[in-house]
Amino acid sequence: MKAVNNDLVWFNGEVKPLSQARIGLEDRGFNFADGVYEVVRFYRGKPFTLTDHLDRLVRSAAALRLTLPLPVDELAHEMRELIAQTAIMEGMVYLQLTRGEAPRAHLFPAVEKPTMFFYARPLPAPWQPGEGAGCKLMSVPDERWKRCWIKSLALLPNVMAKNDAIAAGHDEAVFIDDGRVTECSTCNIFTVKAGKLYTCPVGPKVLPGITRLVTFRLARELNIAVEEISLPLADALNADEVFITSTTREINWVRQWDGKTITGECGPITHKLHQAYVQAVKGQTL
Ligand code: PDD
Repeated sequence: MKAVNNDLVWFNGEVKPLSQARIGLEDRGFNFADGVYEVVRFYRGKPFTLTDHLDRLVRSAAALRLTLPLPVDELAHEMRELIAQTAIMEGMVYLQLTRGEAPRAHLFPAVEKPTMFFYARPLPAPWQPGEGAGCKLMSVPDERWKRCWIKSLALLPNVMAKNDAIAAGHDEAVFIDDGRVTECSTCNIFTVKAGKLYTCPVGPKVLPGITRLVTFRLARELNIAVEEISLPLADALNADEVFITSTTREINWVRQWDGKTITGECGPITHKLHQAYVQAVKGQTL
């Protein structure tokens, strides 16, 4: 078996050791968070929902008037190649695209030389359906901008919220905007009531999560109704089940929210969806 090499990065078209890759002090990603990113999970060395992730990358980049430095199909090829070169089987690819280096000024530079890199990192196997202790959520005010549908590098409100939640003994922060549930600091959130799913529509306050999208597809196949609505917090806390979704965590059941026990174990709908998710992953990566 090939030895695993975690220290490789695709950096502006060249593959090199991560420890040798350098960006300038005036990179706009560094100065202004002027850029976008993606996180793609791979299983058995094969990326899952890569096309959906790259579609979102193109949309996020266009929203910041950024263009990818290479065509999407070539990028997909390069990503698969890098994963193979690292020999990591279970992990994620982190990709970042910025407007590149230019003398610091708010105005976009006349000539742009974008910085793009991606690298692969191993990840532990996600919880199997129904496994794990269940997430503990803490509500926090949503102080983010109104373009959360863009997967932008400007994540400081998310970083603060996540750290506040962990410091208070929870696992994840849920943003509450004007009394209503939007999403979490690093994932989307669904509630289940009387067999039906509820989640906030994507847009000003919600990222179009790829795991969220897969969950919609699976719900349709399983004849589970989904309503896109931003629920008042009090209604959400009354749910029969709650779960969160993200590329790295798949579908995770929620045990507690603001100290209230939602379910003592993974609920049946969450379990069913996660089982279907695992099958979908196998379908693409076995
Ligand atoms: N986070 N909402 C936010 C704010 C997120 O940061 C993420 C993902 C999601 C879920 O999106 P997806 O299903 O496409 O992973 C929703 C990634 C994993 C991160 O920042 O590391």
